[in-house]
Amino acid sequence: MLQSSNQIAPIDDGQSLSLEHVDVRFAGLVAVDDVTLKLRPRSVTGLIGPNGAGKTTAVNVMTGFQRPTGGRILLGGLDLTGHPPEEFARRGIMRTFQSGRLFAKLSVIDNVAAAAVGVRGLSRARARDHAYDILEWMDCAHVCCATAEALPHGLQQRVGLARALAGFPTFLLLDEPASGLGRVDCDALISLIQNIPSRFQCGVLLIEHNMSVIMKACSSILVFASGRQIAEGTPAEISASVQVRQAYLGAAADEPISI
Ligand SMILES: Nc1ncnc2c1ncn2[C@@H]1O[C@H](COP(=O)(O)OP(=O)(O)OP(=O)(O)O)[C@@H](O)[C@H]1O
Ligand SMILES: [Mg+2]
Repeated sequence: MLQSSNQIAPIDDGQSLSLEHVDVRFAGLVAVDDVTLKLRPRSVTGLIGPNGAGKTTAVNVMTGFQRPTGGRILLGGLDLTGHPPEEFARRGIMRTFQSGRLFAKLSVIDNVAAAAVGVRGLSRARARDHAYDILEWMDCAHVCCATAEALPHGLQQRVGLARALAGFPTFLLLDEPASGLGRVDCDALISLIQNIPSRFQCGVLLIEHNMSVIMKACSSILVFASGRQIAEGTPAEISASVQVRQAYLGAAADEPISI
């Protein structure tokens, strides 16, 4: 396996979110196969791999939406294996979904405030103040009173991200947030994601098929193929890896393909 080089800072075990020998089986299918990984606090980690590689399933495990068949999920020294998603959220592990999952009929600000009320128990007034601050930071304050379903796709994605941030996450897991976005929205999203660790003291796991987003936004990248983690490295290391190109694109090892 391509391992992290000395360009990546060592992980502080006390604060990391980790999987230890995690398996997920659906009947005969092994979706996640003996995966051991650690997410760095306060940095952006990419997770890439071909369709069906097990990325979303791994995120489901890391957020309590999928119970692993084997292995453990640890937040620092705390074993969260088998706990429900609400407990993961209470511990600061939040996520977005491939489909936005906003409350369609609610206003944008109420969608975002709902996370602060539901996860952190803020009063409605404080939650709305908090939601407004986040929407402002994301250049979305102008749509705070719009109904979620009335927004274009790009803004809905952004509101989904704002809602996850409103729950005061320490780790935020984003499943294909750039899907369906045009170039301008993509560039804005990259800039937001890059600034999340310093603004919110939060680590980010970013699943994306858009390699330009991954390469610009992430300080390190994990690569999955057929349920296994096959590589970890900096963007430069991953883009130069023949093994990753082969697994990701099914290309011949010596083909000059850039991902
Ligand atoms: N609930 C489920 N029941 C049965 N099989 C599932 C279930 N969820 C996922 N799978 C299967 O597990 C494998 C991994 O799926 P997963 O969605 O994690 O892949 P992915 O890497 O996120 O793919 P994509 O890039 O297409 O989103 C796939 O073969 C998928 O069909
Ligand atoms: Mg997926």
